[in-house]
Amino acid sequence: MIELFDMHSHILPNVDDGSKNMEMTIEMLRIAYSQGIRNMVATPHYMLGADNCSVAELKERLQEVQEEALKIGDDFHIYLGNELYYSEGIWDRLDQKEALTLNDSRYVLVEFDVSEKYKVIYDALKECTRRGYFPVIAHIERYMALFMDFDKVEELMNLGAYVQVNISSLEGGLTDRVASFCRKLLKYNMIHIFGTDAHRAAGRAPTPKKGAAYIEKKYGAGTVKLLMHTNPKKMLNNKIL
Ligand SMILES: [Fe+2]
Repeated sequence: MIELFDMHSHILPNVDDGSKNMEMTIEMLRIAYSQGIRNMVATPHYMLGADNCSVAELKERLQEVQEEALKIGDDFHIYLGNELYYSEGIWDRLDQKEALTLNDSRYVLVEFDVSEKYKVIYDALKECTRRGYFPVIAHIERYMALFMDFDKVEELMNLGAYVQVNISSLEGGLTDRVASFCRKLLKYNMIHIFGTDAHRAAGRAPTPKKGAAYIEKKYGAGTVKLLMHTNPKKMLNNKIL
């Protein structure tokens, strides 16, 4: 069995709009483990002007969650990062160590407003790379400026940006436009990693199994391993993909 990595989740209790308490977190961890996840990155939201949890607080929560994960399985590891909501000045927070990269690597998970202009996204990612970080675009399927526009996605990749898709976005029927976009991204090798973006134990739970089965059926176990194990592992170890 491939040990899956979940690179985007809101499993830390009571730090953002994700898990509400430790009970919910434990339930989410159990679900994740039963679905084959063995490595999970907690990526609480970080937004300028919001009442963000301090890094010290996040680290405390992380430690508690790590202990709970080890009770579920001694091969179950939890890492820390942030999901940065882009606005001008956000990269300064990384430099100041107030916002976190993924497991202290150069990789940064960043989300944009869904209706953000392409030029803003482009310039933001360019500035991020100029500062020596490797931006990872969170759930790329959400942004209107990039939707079904493979040239733009390619341009961002050429800039040095990486692409994360929510694994559940691969599900859905033939008429599902988001699923269709994600399947095409997958077909064109334009996805680097997946995440569950789990917020809850029910509804937005960490359930990658169905999406992973789709990838395996279409492209084989090797592709599942690349996108859900090898690439994520390299990122967390600060290696170049
Ligand atoms: Fe998220």
